[in-house]
Amino acid sequence: MGRLELVVLGLTCCLAAVSAAKLGAVYTEGGFVEGVNKKLGLLGDSVDIFRGIPFAAPTKALENPQRHPGWQGTLKAKEFKKRCLQATITQDDTYGDEDCLYLNIWVPQGRKQVSQGLPVMVWIYGGAFLMGAGHGANFRKNYLYDGEEIATRGNVIVVTFNYRVGPLGFLSTGDANLPGNYGLRDQHMAIAWVKRNIAAFGGDPNSITIFGESAGGASVSLQTLSPYNKGLIRRAISQSGVALSPWVIQKNPLFWAKKIAEKVGCPVDNTTRMAKCLKVTDPRALTLAYKMPLAGMEYPMLHYLGFTPVIDGDFIPDDPVNLYANTADIDYIAGTNNMDGHIFASIDMPAINKDKKDVTEEDFYKLVSGLTITKGLAGARSTFDVYTKSWAQDPSQENKKKTVVDFETDILFLVPTEIALAQHRANARSAKTYTYLFSHPSRMPVYPKWVGADHADDIQYVFGKPMATPLGYRNQDRTVSKTMIAYWTNFARTGDPNMGHSAVPTHWDAYTVEKGSYLEITKKMDGSSMKQNLRTSYLRYWTLDYLMLPTVTGDGAAPAPPSGDSEAAPVPPSGDSEAAPVPPSGDSDGAQMPVVVGF
Ligand SMILES: *[C@@H]1O[C@H](CO)[C@@H](O)[C@H](O)[C@H]1NC(C)=O
Repeated sequence: MGRLELVVLGLTCCLAAVSAAKLGAVYTEGGFVEGVNKKLGLLGDSVDIFRGIPFAAPTKALENPQRHPGWQGTLKAKEFKKRCLQATITQDDTYGDEDCLYLNIWVPQGRKQVSQGLPVMVWIYGGAFLMGAGHGANFRKNYLYDGEEIATRGNVIVVTFNYRVGPLGFLSTGDANLPGNYGLRDQHMAIAWVKRNIAAFGGDPNSITIFGESAGGASVSLQTLSPYNKGLIRRAISQSGVALSPWVIQKNPLFWAKKIAEKVGCPVDNTTRMAKCLKVTDPRALTLAYKMPLAGMEYPMLHYLGFTPVIDGDFIPDDPVNLYANTADIDYIAGTNNMDGHIFASIDMPAINKDKKDVTEEDFYKLVSGLTITKGLAGARSTFDVYTKSWAQDPSQENKKKTVVDFETDILFLVPTEIALAQHRANARSAKTYTYLFSHPSRMPVYPKWVGADHADDIQYVFGKPMATPLGYRNQDRTVSKTMIAYWTNFARTGDPNMGHSAVPTHWDAYTVEKGSYLEITKKMDGSSMKQNLRTSYLRYWTLDYLMLPTVTGDGAAPAPPSGDSEAAPVPPSGDSEAAPVPPSGDSDGAQMPVVVGF
């Protein structure tokens, strides 16, 4: 830094101090950045907002992120940068940019002097490792992941950032040629940048909380498990997704790498040559070479997620379940929504949302067998029996549809979260552990009345949308939102969601393996909101009875891609021993069978 710049920095500070509390230009490792100061109300409070600060150099396809070389002069950080290159929702085009590793910062300011030593909350977005952006979906400049409400209500700094997704973020040959996990390494670069630079914005580098939802929640979990983040992360919050969720780790990345290579005309028989070729292929073509099927799939949706994190022996050195010693001093909240599986169940079985359509035993058996393939016929049958126990007594369609949702909620979210909590607790030294169940019902008018909190419903409340856009919400929604922001930001500040800047409606007891205490988050919270042992009999089933069943397929079985040809469909049990669910066998590319739930 030149002398002149130092003088400029000094002047900015002093001028800011005498007029009103705002940061002005901030000196970072890359150079000066200047955001905008947004006044709030009449009391003189404000929020400093920085949009689009580079935390790494522009990316090179399928390469690890590199440090940014820095810039001359003052970088105007006033607009969100483009998202990382990804397929549009229709999957026939791309948007975003390869130059995408930017972050955004919200710093709350009081009237008198600029904030100092604030806790920092870094958000990791979800989107199946396939889509998403640090600023989130938006409607007329109202961005989903706008940090302002959390920052100003909780008196914390909020950071959001972009990371690579889809093939560009996660394609791997399963060997040193393309180790994968580029998107995870981007996330780590952002966290490390915050650690090195946030003090200049008034943040406490020793109080960094990472939080995220779905694939973002799983990413949060993976970042706490990776040795690369040692000493960087103080606390973490996983909403509806952990490293142990069955959709997170890709066990056979080469299978999917070959699919892409074939599509874009790269060699498939030699990973050295494949990698070389893929790296010089148009990144748009790589992105479009993978399509997530969204209807008419032979198997549950889970099996078609090709591009997710891998165990690369380095960033993720081992199976995540073996890495929990790395979280011994990281305070952790992990929780789920009471109908997290609803959206996935309705994709797998559209009758769920149609009052006039029925769910049948055959449909459900097919779904169950599609998600219990490693355990073959015995796994499908015992799981089917456990889940349909109530059907004889209550054969109503509502009960059956709820059962399907519970089944997917358990497999995709609840059970892996419970296992992660137990692992975290068992390995904890100084770390505290908390868990919640979010139950404020979905507001989607097209859903049946019985639908509870669907996947991703929690995000709008954490980001304070009911206050930011009051016309779209009811008072009860604002209550839920203020409650969540209070618990979340208290936790970021002290490691205890009950203590900090904001009052909370009731005490949230820490989780223990013995009691399984969890906080149920609803519009009306009091002493009865603390509950115990969420769905223990099902948890016991999955972690004991089911696990004990002999495995009939190898762990390395390849997932089947969408192939659309007439493969034998799994059939319901009919009492004769030949009625085993049949995995796909006729795929011309030599695919074996769908990968399996990780437990
Ligand atoms: C793969 O290709 C590379 C580069 O052309 C070559 O050096 C290597 O021997 C090949 N590996 C195999 C297993 O054929």
